[in-house]
Amino acid sequence: MSATNVPTDLLDVSPVIPVVVIDDVEHAVPLARALVRGGIAVIEVTLRTTAALPAIERIAAEVPEILLGAGTVTVPAHATQAASAGARFLVTPGSTRNLLQAAEETGLPVLPGAATASEALALAELGYSSLKFFPAEAAGGIGYLRSLAGPLPNLRFCPTGGVGPANAEGYLALPNVGCVGGSWLTPAAVLAAGDWDAVTALAEDAAALTA
Ligand code: 3PG
Repeated sequence: MSATNVPTDLLDVSPVIPVVVIDDVEHAVPLARALVRGGIAVIEVTLRTTAALPAIERIAAEVPEILLGAGTVTVPAHATQAASAGARFLVTPGSTRNLLQAAEETGLPVLPGAATASEALALAELGYSSLKFFPAEAAGGIGYLRSLAGPLPNLRFCPTGGVGPANAEGYLALPNVGCVGGSWLTPAAVLAAGDWDAVTALAEDAAALTA
């Protein structure tokens, strides 16, 4: 496995990567546009709903200015499906050899998930240096990630899972954090209501955070 397609710069695109669950494909485009309006030009559409792949297709076609990724890539087939739909990067919550191989075969940048020092080291052996730390809060939070910075100084993380306005700045202050991920910019009730201005406002607050 090579690491030539590892996105060391994916962590530098934005202080926050919005992790979104799209139930209604009609929400995809206005949601992506609302994020861009708020200054967040990246989106991770999770493959947790039947609307996810069609949503990726719509965003790829209609909002090309947003860096579009697919998240919750948990089986090899997801990687190919997401790439075909138009995703430009892939995020996994955890990492297996088969999953990483399928993800790499797409040629897309991959942000692989790790929750422990051993998992992070296994990914480093494969050449990855930018990792998703998931589930961040449940796995040990800011204290855990700070502890990894000493022994693993060459690895950088995007903590996700339980990250929100109350703790994002704390994560972003760590030397081994490039950005954070989270679903707080796109609450289910706000999407259901089609309140795109609320998404833009949440995005503006997130964009003001500094990594
Ligand atoms: C993810 O897939 O990264 C998480 O489900 C996002 O976690 P959050 O909903 O706690 O932000």
